[in-house]
Amino acid sequence: MPKQLAVVILAAAGLPALVAGLVAFASPWPVEAVPAFARQYDLQCNACHTRPPRLNRFGEQFHMMGFQIPSAARPRGIVSSVREDGALKTLIDSLALRIEGGLFEYTASPRETETKFVAPDEITLFVARPLLPELSIFVEIEGEPNAVAFENRRYFTRGQVGLGKEAFFMLNLGRLLGLLGAPTMEMGGQTMVGKHGGFSMHGPMLMAGKVDPNTNFSYATNRQLIALTELEVAHGEVERLPIVPYAFASKFFGLFKNRDEREPQLVTDQVMYNTSGAPGADVHAMFNDVVLGQIGFLRENEGFNTYAAARFDLLDRGELTFNISALVNWGFGVARAPDPEDPSQPGGNRLDRLRYGIAANVRWKQLDVYGALIWDRLYGLPGELRGSFDRTATGLTIQADYLVYEKIMLSSRFDQLWAGGLKDEKRDGSVLSVQAKFYPWQNIAFFVRDSVNLRSFVEDSPLRNWRNQLFIGIDWDF
Ligand code: HEC
Repeated sequence: MPKQLAVVILAAAGLPALVAGLVAFASPWPVEAVPAFARQYDLQCNACHTRPPRLNRFGEQFHMMGFQIPSAARPRGIVSSVREDGALKTLIDSLALRIEGGLFEYTASPRETETKFVAPDEITLFVARPLLPELSIFVEIEGEPNAVAFENRRYFTRGQVGLGKEAFFMLNLGRLLGLLGAPTMEMGGQTMVGKHGGFSMHGPMLMAGKVDPNTNFSYATNRQLIALTELEVAHGEVERLPIVPYAFASKFFGLFKNRDEREPQLVTDQVMYNTSGAPGADVHAMFNDVVLGQIGFLRENEGFNTYAAARFDLLDRGELTFNISALVNWGFGVARAPDPEDPSQPGGNRLDRLRYGIAANVRWKQLDVYGALIWDRLYGLPGELRGSFDRTATGLTIQADYLVYEKIMLSSRFDQLWAGGLKDEKRDGSVLSVQAKFYPWQNIAFFVRDSVNLRSFVEDSPLRNWRNQLFIGIDWDF
């Protein structure tokens, strides 16, 4: 049944896509700015995005402030919108749809070369809107025709529909501090702590639900211009690991997520602070528009994370901006060690994990360069594993995007993994990816992307059993 349901929902999502596409192709002028925020604030995409989904400085500030533009806020939030625009327009303006994925894939390895045509693999419906000047929501509903699932100790693919990566509300707690006696200012119904011309603090902003905390980091995992590739499975096993930013990945070979289902924690899973979304609560505040402080907790597997991060926007001169971020993250019992007797099974020990790292981002005119270096260390490993398990790992990811002109964005990313985990299984990885993305309209992009394995080919390693992977795909928002 869920499968039929998935098909129906995907078909329902696909139909408007098709219609919108035909309209877009038929009309001689560029389509109107469509996704939710563009419609609500009547802005072009590039007011907030260098090119979607990557945000520019204004877009990041808009996000930090809880999806609000104080000068454009409606004093009574959604009530004013419904009154002025009607319920239907208010609803439509709160929705956006994104279809992304491959059209064609080519994988080269010494023994065999595969080519295949593939259907777009991710369809997301966004519901996003400020409800009140100090409260907003952001919810993703996601359909994945070929999601990889793990059940009864086997991997397989099946259609899935459900809550997407993120689903949260953001609430500005500034007024609360005002009630406690702090000086406050008001703009567009939003409260800011501080005095005009003096110290100011925006927030504290509470973000709770299914959240992506690294959204404020100098390198945000969720806004990838070079998309993650799909995990490939065959005969119930992992055949090839996806190409992801290794800095944010789990990095350890041989770990498990849990005891009961015995699901492996794959080396390339985006975990802890850098998850693409997990249940939790996050609080951030911005001081004088220069320093952002952030703390929070997140559930993960059988345990949970606590973290603190800070971001400094050191330079902000129109065409030149520079920011750096630092992170410390402690995970309590977030992974399981392999059983020393039989490493293919999870053992009795839950492990703590320390993650810390830095990230930086420079933007100069059409050039956007960002990178992160993240260290991981495991605690609580059973004594018997000491000799055969490496408990430290590091990942480095650096990306550069260059907007050649309105319609063409060139991107390049380098990923380096110094892996940890079971010594006879672990492999380091180095991957270089390059991509050209063509935007015939602001909200439609086609891309050609190639990734090269810079290390030797290793037949039995799911991380390195390929030489070259080429993808052609589409990213479509409306
Ligand atoms: C007022 C600012 C603003 C405008 C204008 C805007 N966006 Fe966005 N957009 C955002 C923010 C903020 C997010 C959430 C980003 C995040 O959390 O990573 C977002 C998210 C997205 C995402 C999805 C990211 C994901 O999580 O998958 C896409 C795609 C996107 N925007 C496309 C567009 C397009 C296309 C336009 C123009 C038609 C547009 N946006 C206009 C601010 C804006």
